[in-house]
Amino acid sequence: MLFEQIATGGCQSYLVGCAATRAAVLIDPELSRVDEYRGLIGQLGLHLRYVVDTHTHADHFSGSRDIGRALDVPVVMHRFSPAPHAAFRLDEGDLLMAGDLRLKAIHTPGHTADSMCLLLEDRVFTGDTLLIGGTGRTDLPTGDAHALYESLFEKVLTLPPETLVFPAHDYKQRSHSTIAAELADNPRLQKRTRAEFVAMMQGLDLTAPTHLTEALRTNMTGAKPVSQLLAEAAAKVPFMSLAELASRVGSNTCDMVILDLREREAFDAGHVPGAVHLPRGQLELRVNTDLPDPTVKILTCCEFGKISTLAAATLRELGYLRATALEGGLAAWRDAAYPLSDRAA
Ligand SMILES: [Fe+2]
Repeated sequence: MLFEQIATGGCQSYLVGCAATRAAVLIDPELSRVDEYRGLIGQLGLHLRYVVDTHTHADHFSGSRDIGRALDVPVVMHRFSPAPHAAFRLDEGDLLMAGDLRLKAIHTPGHTADSMCLLLEDRVFTGDTLLIGGTGRTDLPTGDAHALYESLFEKVLTLPPETLVFPAHDYKQRSHSTIAAELADNPRLQKRTRAEFVAMMQGLDLTAPTHLTEALRTNMTGAKPVSQLLAEAAAKVPFMSLAELASRVGSNTCDMVILDLREREAFDAGHVPGAVHLPRGQLELRVNTDLPDPTVKILTCCEFGKISTLAAATLRELGYLRATALEGGLAAWRDAAYPLSDRAA
């Protein structure tokens, strides 16, 4: 078996491959690492057959939908997953076959209703059901401490004690554990009666994970986080550096439209000399009258360089094929002490 463990902060992803056939399965990929997984799959000469999410993640952005689309591979989740991009849904005991690999789905609700563990030969991928020295929390949507108790004590912990445990998270750079080690040392597993365990889980006063709302929204629907929307727009437009713009403004050879997309108040308080004002909210409404020449070079700018990136991508879609975005925006322009004008253009 080919086995790669890829950590992204506290998130753990796994790439497993069949040595004989090169068929592979990717488990719990993280959105920001999609290019790296693809590189690794190519480097190892693997052919990805499935990409699996062990559950609907609430604390990070899943890369499954993007990998699935890019490599034309089905996204696999448990039957109870709400994600519309899951093409392949597993029931208790189902086997996922990839070459000689046989991954067995064990439905382990508790952390979420759609949580599953995947048993592969000598190891089990436990998602957030069982962590090293911990368990998944049960206070997020679809969490259930009673269900987690049953999943742990009636299913996962009844696996052979030597079974290797590979969780979806570890924040202390530990790679894996075993069922025996967790039974012996995991503080949360020392509460062995249902009542004690449930009381302990319900008494945990945990802070909400960062990105909770956005991660749930995007992982449950297969939609994009804002950062990805911006990254996709950025991939469609070129940028101009602050220094390049400053030299053009200073040299009086500025043969482009500098389009300031901020609100009127911000524009009036100080803008790049020669900039014209067209607030982002009115861009599509006024583009035909304000920008009649599609061959002109347009430089979009805003406060932080994000709205201007989206606007430049929109302008390119509308046929302004020389639309460019200012890198950094007016905040960086001011910080660099480049000239500002408060005269209306
Ligand atoms: Fe989770």
